[in-house]
Amino acid sequence: MNAPVQSLAGLDLHAEIDRLRKARNAVILAHYYQEPAIQDLADFVGDSLDLSRKAADTPADVIAFCGVRFMAEVAKILSPEKIVVLPDMAAGCSLEDSCPPEQFARFRAAHPDHLSITYINCSAAVKAHSDIICTSSSAEKILSQLPIDQKIIFAPDKNLGAYFNRKTGRDMLLWPGACIVHEAFSETELLKLKARYPGAPVAAHPECPAYILDHADEVGSTRAILDFALSSPAQTIIVATEPHIIHQMEKAAPHKHFIGAPGADGNCNCNMCPYMAMNSIEKLYFALRDLTPRIELDEETRLSAKRPLDRMLEMASANVGQGDLGAKPVAGD
Ligand code: 13P
Ligand code: SF4
Repeated sequence: MNAPVQSLAGLDLHAEIDRLRKARNAVILAHYYQEPAIQDLADFVGDSLDLSRKAADTPADVIAFCGVRFMAEVAKILSPEKIVVLPDMAAGCSLEDSCPPEQFARFRAAHPDHLSITYINCSAAVKAHSDIICTSSSAEKILSQLPIDQKIIFAPDKNLGAYFNRKTGRDMLLWPGACIVHEAFSETELLKLKARYPGAPVAAHPECPAYILDHADEVGSTRAILDFALSSPAQTIIVATEPHIIHQMEKAAPHKHFIGAPGADGNCNCNMCPYMAMNSIEKLYFALRDLTPRIELDEETRLSAKRPLDRMLEMASANVGQGDLGAKPVAGD
């Protein structure tokens, strides 16, 4: 169904990647922010939580992770016996960069009575200093299992933390990091777009600042945004997250009109994630052919980072009813 991707001296890269995937017993996992050609080749496309679950459960010997480095690190932390390759090892994340492990460790030490709930968009070393990891799709459920008066450090995304403070009535201490992509949306341009398409709902990622979220009809993870876009009766939907996710929307609902929320120049292209864009079909082919670049972690860091990740997976799958909200003791203490 996909058009062959021809390059590298006439190789049919699609067919070559397929051949290598079978020969290596590899699984290709891709985030929604990857270019359409990668999404179409992947065995599974998902948000950070779903990708973590897949990485933990896959029977494959090799995971080719088409996303950014912290996501591939999560795959290695959860599946250490597997080879995990990332097509471009330089694919980082501005949130990860905003939170150096030594500074984070000092901050934690200065607040010994606080639990650290850390967004998955951080390095393995920062995870190793954390109590519980969360994703945008699991944070609210995780917070609901902690006493309302529990003191919490939320790092590294101040916008996500502020959103959950507003939503849950908590007063978490926020690390001052931000995503360069979601901070690039312009409120003025969004209001102009809404005026041009009256009635079009806005679906936004909680990494956006409050002045964007205030205009959103739906706030959620990439998967939640996709679900909303497909289930909404609206025929035109404004999407305030990285625009490559629109590929899945257009595939599933070709009759609908999806518009990327604009940046300050009125153009949505400035909101493409430069780190996600480092991966390419060619680099994926090389990664599967040469099994490099590989994610390698020292065992001490891996084990320390696994503990809060396991807590996330447990708490995200816990069966908690409304009556339990805020009633549970602090996990693991
Ligand atoms: P999701 O967990 O919603 O997929 O978010 C990942 C991410 O990096 C958003 O910028
Ligand atoms: Fe990081 Fe933002 Fe890119 Fe997501 S979109 S990977 S948070 S820089």
